[in-house]
Amino acid sequence: MGAPHRLASSMATVRRVDDLRAATAAWRRAGLSIGLVPTMGALHGGHLALIRAARAACARVVATIFVNPAQFDNPDDLERYPRDRARDEAMLSGAGVDLLFAPAVDEMYPDGFATSVAVSGLSACLCGVSRPGHLAGVTTVVAKLLVQAQPDIAYFGEKDYQQLLVVRRMARDLDLPVRIDAVATERAADGLAHSSRNACLSADERARAPALYRILRETAARLSAGGAAAPVLERGRGALSDAGFAPIDYLELRDGETLAELTVARPPARLFAAAWLGTTRLIDNVRVAG
Ligand code: PAJ
Repeated sequence: MGAPHRLASSMATVRRVDDLRAATAAWRRAGLSIGLVPTMGALHGGHLALIRAARAACARVVATIFVNPAQFDNPDDLERYPRDRARDEAMLSGAGVDLLFAPAVDEMYPDGFATSVAVSGLSACLCGVSRPGHLAGVTTVVAKLLVQAQPDIAYFGEKDYQQLLVVRRMARDLDLPVRIDAVATERAADGLAHSSRNACLSADERARAPALYRILRETAARLSAGGAAAPVLERGRGALSDAGFAPIDYLELRDGETLAELTVARPPARLFAAAWLGTTRLIDNVRVAG
């Protein structure tokens, strides 16, 4: 296929790696910079913020939609993951995306696929503990997408802060010629971070969900006042449990660059939480002012 032109609503959709490569190679030959926004679909305002950042910096924007089986630690969760391709395509096209890459599972993982890209250290805590194998599934698919599309810049949200750090480390360690840019977390008016998983919440759970961000902010404010983190974190866990979150996978204070655990807040400290409302796992994180 030829390079799609950037006209309003002229987004092309490709499902084959060869077609993605042909389009992006033509853009590179023409000297056009390329931004990549990897997603799993079920798009929301957070994804749109990544696309806006890509459009502001790059001549061409490629979005990907692939519900990546390798990063689901539980088959029910993969099955339940929300999917709405028609709505997603309309949103991407309306947001000015030039090309959508939406491969089938066997295009990304053909028979005999046997490679895993895993980042040690940064993947050994937080979601690396509560979702074994999840982060290696992410880095494996993101490595493939970066090699396939060869973007100048790839965009990742701070909402999945550990994922952002792990992907950045992977790109550096493998000398991938790409810049990884972070985009701040987009939230609903009541503070709940936009997430594809919010669609799985019942009305009652959705009403409780904003407590996660509220408790993160309150706990971060207490931590930034100084003193031992442990009792403040314990109080935060109690507040999450009182708000109906169970189980709480973690509420932890960590260094925002190395993810080393902190016993006292010091820059660049970050507070991370993952907790369940019914069958839905929510995550969020906030910076802790020094
Ligand atoms: P997904 O959950 O669809 O998220 C795609 C991108 O959107 C990620 O970089 C994520 O951090 C970002 N994002 C999600 N919610 C956000 C919000 N409220 N504000 C800002 N950014 C937000 O994360 C994944 O997919 C996958 O792991 C993926 C990277 C695509 C690999 O399969």
